[in-house]
Amino acid sequence: MSPARRRPLPRIGIIGLGMYVPSKVLTNFDLEKIVDTNDQWIQTRTGIKERRIAEPGTTTSDLAYHAARQALKQAKLDPKDLELLIVATTTPDMLFPSTSCLVQQRLGATSAICFDLSAACSGSIFAMITAQQYLETGRYRNALVIGAEVLSSFIDWTDRSTCVLFGDGAGACVMAPVRRGGILATDMGSDGSAAELLYMPGGGSKYPPSHKSVDQRLHFLRMNGGEIFKVAVRRMADSAKRVITSAKLKPEHVECFIPHQANSRIVEAVAKRADLPIERVYMNLQRYGNTSAASNLIALYEAVHEGVIERGDHVVMVAFGAGLTWGSLLLQW
Ligand code: ACO
Repeated sequence: MSPARRRPLPRIGIIGLGMYVPSKVLTNFDLEKIVDTNDQWIQTRTGIKERRIAEPGTTTSDLAYHAARQALKQAKLDPKDLELLIVATTTPDMLFPSTSCLVQQRLGATSAICFDLSAACSGSIFAMITAQQYLETGRYRNALVIGAEVLSSFIDWTDRSTCVLFGDGAGACVMAPVRRGGILATDMGSDGSAAELLYMPGGGSKYPPSHKSVDQRLHFLRMNGGEIFKVAVRRMADSAKRVITSAKLKPEHVECFIPHQANSRIVEAVAKRADLPIERVYMNLQRYGNTSAASNLIALYEAVHEGVIERGDHVVMVAFGAGLTWGSLLLQW
């Protein structure tokens, strides 16, 4: 092995955070006027009270841009000095070019290498772990990871079993080598055999857009909610446990747990299975619903800004999504 390869890898951490949600609020009571549902059912089964919805014409790159600006400002990083830009999204502005290239252009991040990452609700965790690899090896000196979604454009607003669950938003973080804290352990997994538990069939090469595909409502998200629920609990809890063990810690050492904000019942079951006390679990899904790839970063942003996370705390972020995909990371703040 060459001497260069024996050098310890630098610790990678977060040096700036940002979030952005559209101003339009859609409450459970508003949904009662659209589909056969009610506030009590939604709150009891999901914990969600309201979600944010982008105005027509507002795109994923718009939300991503605003969150990114804030994260770069906090990191005191000039967009021109940004070296890597990854957007995790299930709802890109277009199939191509990548949403990250569109964000690059608006930010003026002219030196950044840009690509999108598709891992559905696990997107921001997958993107952070991807960025970590580039930063550890020294290939790039800094990275901007954004999770952004305009899910409202892909939701069937006549399907009460899915339309009550999701919302729009963006979260962003700037990552770089750090002297204190940073990412201590990571875990990722995928299982394509269950791909049809949560998917959107239309719009790709399998079912390109046609009158037929529109008539068959193929351009909307489809989900087997009950099955997703069970797999999500098992995969997220086991991933969280693995990441804690590989950092040589115990559940009691975790000061804050930031799960993917899908459903309060899923989150409570994950915490129980992973032996994490519910008082240490951060939830803001009551305000935003499930914002998919944006969810973990929006939750991290709010937990930090509310003072729930303090310097030195051990934070576990865990996510689960379509694919299926799951992943977690343990970082010291
Ligand atoms: N309002 C009122 N009633 C409803 C609604 C609604 N919005 N949606 C479904 N129902 C009805 C059903 O029709 C059913 O009626 P029936 O008994 O007469 O047939 C009844 O409520 C119970 O339906 P279930 O599907 O059994 O309800 P459940 O308790 O499983 O909750 C839910 C459904 C909330 C979708 C749950 O399964 C869930 O959260 N699953 C996980 C889905 C998820 O979070 N996906 C996000 C992507 S993956 C991820 O992010 C982790």
